Amino acid sequence: MLPFHQVVADDFEAVNQRILEQLHSDVELVENIGHYLIEAGGKRLRPLMVLLTTRALDYQGRDHLDLAAIIEFIHTATLLHDDVVDTSDRRRGRLTANAQWGNAPAVLVGDFLYSRAFQMMVAIGRMDIMSVLSETTNRIAEGEVQQLVNAKDPAVTEENYFSVIDKKTAILFASACEVAALLSDASKAQRKALRAYGHHVGMAFQLMDDALDYRGDAQTLGKNVGDDLAEGKPTLPLIYAMENGSPEQSSLVASAIRSGDASQLPQVLEIVNATGAMEYTLGRAHKQVERARAQLSGLPDSRYTQAMAEVADFALARSH
Ligand code: IPE
Ligand code: IPE
Ligand code: MG
Ligand code: MG
Repeated sequence: MLPFHQVVADDFEAVNQRILEQLHSDVELVENIGHYLIEAGGKRLRPLMVLLTTRALDYQGRDHLDLAAIIEFIHTATLLHDDVVDTSDRRRGRLTANAQWGNAPAVLVGDFLYSRAFQMMVAIGRMDIMSVLSETTNRIAEGEVQQLVNAKDPAVTEENYFSVIDKKTAILFASACEVAALLSDASKAQRKALRAYGHHVGMAFQLMDDALDYRGDAQTLGKNVGDDLAEGKPTLPLIYAMENGSPEQSSLVASAIRSGDASQLPQVLEIVNATGAMEYTLGRAHKQVERARAQLSGLPDSRYTQAMAEVADFALARSH
């Protein structure tokens, strides 16, 4: 647990309990894969957003626990599918489900988690929450497809990149905060601010993920580094390096993207550093964190809003 989890430690215990209960299936393989991934841990940032938001708004019911579990199920389902499409073999310090069991079980258990999340939403019975989360899962899928189309294309623009990370990552952070605000019957202005807070944290989070893919440490991250280049992903460090490098530097990066050639990693890394692409990416992430923090000013000051500010900082400072 990270320090900012402590203020909602009791809630978290209950959420983990709900997650385990809701993983139940009569089909053993579903339970095995579900437990394998969930018990590997993960930072649980998105359910944390739900718990902090509901506490910050003084929510008095019990549905926030299920709502947090729902958000983690959606997140875990996207990871199961993402590791198949990215052909990744490490996640949360272990083999990915696709590496351990194969693609078919990983995809199908992802479907199980998605649909279990929707069953749990129906049980809460709030059409406004279902509306936000159905839109969200649809957008995430769209973002992942857009990214697939972009693979191995060095001509992808910065604008296109930002649209992909908004859809594939930021939207779930934003929606986690928004549905928690809906559950807490927040005012419209608070709901908007909280959604924006989640959005900016999510953007910073993915910008850092893409930076860490070039400068992180696989052991600490619990997943491989250099994977993005191997997949020919035109992420911001590369887009900026191509825009600002010499013609030779740009064409080397472009050709590494086109061929998805991981053996070019040392040269690409050198260009990323020489062109200031890493600082640029970190600078963009930093701005997102500032915007996230600014959204919190309209909420009553509490240890929960304090923890929300710390989560925003963590998105930038993280090494895992
Ligand atoms: C991984 O998210 C997917 C991205 C959006 C980069 P996390 O880094 O939050 O994954 P876990 O849940 O902590 O493993
Ligand atoms: C993660 O994108 C986004 C989703 C899971 C929807 P990435 O592919 O960049 O995340 P990692 O690096 O595999 O965690
Ligand atoms: Mg991936
Ligand atoms: Mg990544």
